[in-house]
Amino acid sequence: MIVAIDGPAASGKSTVAKLLATRLGMAYLDTGAMYRALAVEALERGVHLSDADALTALAHEVEVSFEHESGSPLPTRVFVDGRDVTREIRTPEADSAVSPVSAVAGVRAAMVDQQRRIARAPLHTVLEGRDIGTVVFPDADVKVFLTAATHERARRRTIDMLHRGLPMTQEDVQARLESRDLYDTTREASPLMCAPDAFEIDTTGMTIDEVVDAIIGLVEARR
Ligand code: DC
Repeated sequence: MIVAIDGPAASGKSTVAKLLATRLGMAYLDTGAMYRALAVEALERGVHLSDADALTALAHEVEVSFEHESGSPLPTRVFVDGRDVTREIRTPEADSAVSPVSAVAGVRAAMVDQQRRIARAPLHTVLEGRDIGTVVFPDADVKVFLTAATHERARRRTIDMLHRGLPMTQEDVQARLESRDLYDTTREASPLMCAPDAFEIDTTGMTIDEVVDAIIGLVEARR
């Protein structure tokens, strides 16, 4: 079974997808982490973020992989060709670099291939991203599109950043989220959009457990 969770930045995808995978005993794939890892590698190698050909070549050349920390049922560490980039991919620099990198059609083709391979290896996988229900697995068994009011997403991400030791003002976080959303929804290659057959859930006034329970209800109805 494939469960697709799409939505804009900080809509709760990661938290919800991880809990879902744990409760349902499924594998979990964070496709955003793959684009982030590639963006970090591009910065590391000095590849220009407007050089689509070089970024595409890089996407074909490097392998992004995930590993479990001991005791964790879900993969928690991200590697690019064996280099641990788990922390680096969550910095404001990575946030800024990832949108132009993920907008390149050639990069997406390479990443989508890797994503299908990784997700099909286990029997059941929860994937989170922007184009899972529209492009990566258009025939996913359950498709969910998570949204939340912008100020709420900014509030959640500000708390996240603080916990990671990267304090930012909520206004600054919101401005960055809005610019990334604009980039992700207006790019030509697989823009962020809700699949026509996805269940849209506005999580603004909901607890995490309420959201997870609602999706488990959808999964159970498909079993
Ligand atoms: O989910 P996230 O914020 O970690 O994603 C980082 C960026 O990667 C996001 O700005 C858009 C891009 N992305 C994408 O284009 N397609 C995906 N399936 C996942 C993420």
